[in-house]
Amino acid sequence: MNIYERIVQDHDNHRQLAARIMETEGNSEERNELWEQFKPEATAHANAEEQTLYAELLEAQKSQEQARHSVHEHKEADDLIQELDEMDMSSSGWIQKFEKLKDELEHHMKEEENDVFEIAKKVLSSDLADDLVEKFEQRKKSEISEIA
Ligand SMILES: [Fe+2]
Ligand SMILES: [Fe+2]
Repeated sequence: MNIYERIVQDHDNHRQLAARIMETEGNSEERNELWEQFKPEATAHANAEEQTLYAELLEAQKSQEQARHSVHEHKEADDLIQELDEMDMSSSGWIQKFEKLKDELEHHMKEEENDVFEIAKKVLSSDLADDLVEKFEQRKKSEISEIA
């Protein structure tokens, strides 16, 4: 497995979780449980990406701009996650805001899987793309234990 495949694994999980949250209602147990899964998962994923793939892409001239753009989108998603976390789940505004987060993340993930990976494959050796998987796992794990 390389870093690209590993990231897509997470993205597929995030797409599924987000779709399931959209099906939930109000301040239900299900919505609370899914949100408590989604929140640390999405946050730790983005941070682990920044400490592995994006750290490398920021180093290279060719990929710097795309990497900065992605990191900026991580910050925007993080702000929405914080807002959602402080909002009353039973309000209709909660799911509207969640849908906004879901749409933005879907756009972001697609962009990573297409544009970012395409540039990354030109900049990073395939050995490095393999080696980054273990680093990604470690960083993600430590991010999750920090959040929890
Ligand atoms: Fe990302
Ligand atoms: Fe991602």
